[in-house]
Amino acid sequence: MKVKSIFLIVSFLIAISNNSFSKSIDNTVKNIKNAIIGETTASAKYAAYAKKAKEEGFPKIALLFEAASKAESIHANNHRAVLEELGIKMDSFKPEFTVKTTKENLEDAIKGETYEVTTMYPNFIKEAQNDSVSLALISFNYAYQTEKKHQALYKKALEQLIAGKENTLPTKYMVCTTCGNTYDGEAPARCGISMTPRERFITIQ
Ligand SMILES: [Fe+2]
Ligand SMILES: [Fe+2]
Repeated sequence: MKVKSIFLIVSFLIAISNNSFSKSIDNTVKNIKNAIIGETTASAKYAAYAKKAKEEGFPKIALLFEAASKAESIHANNHRAVLEELGIKMDSFKPEFTVKTTKENLEDAIKGETYEVTTMYPNFIKEAQNDSVSLALISFNYAYQTEKKHQALYKKALEQLIAGKENTLPTKYMVCTTCGNTYDGEAPARCGISMTPRERFITIQ
């Protein structure tokens, strides 16, 4: 009888640890994988857009694309680190994008950032909260806050390009190596998103 009771308790504990009762984090895992694909593709795409902007004689827009490309690679690395912490492998994929004129590339960048800011990251953040995956919450929030700034920077660049004033755009960007936060000009002493000291920022000029 005593042995039987112990057996029942052990079975119960095994059932809990095998997550018969714990909740699934499948949604968040799927979201992290999609975010890795999105950020890796954005990073490669913006690097190609920077090259195109240089070829078309828009060096200042090229700088912005370079800075954002760096930021997106930081987001991709953060998301990858979260997936690793969860002990899950990333499936292989190939970034796919098309390079057009700089004006069209800016329009595409605004479209991408807007989707991330209005739809993608708000949903991912909500699901990471529901799934209680705190590292995903941090990583998604770093990207979400940064994309809002990218959206604004790209909108300003497109306006200036259309107005024929590309040469008035910033000549220097600083990118936070922790969260990808992107400043036009000099960054403050500490990152406004992750509090990382300015000494750890990357300068693009
Ligand atoms: Fe990003
Ligand atoms: Fe971005």
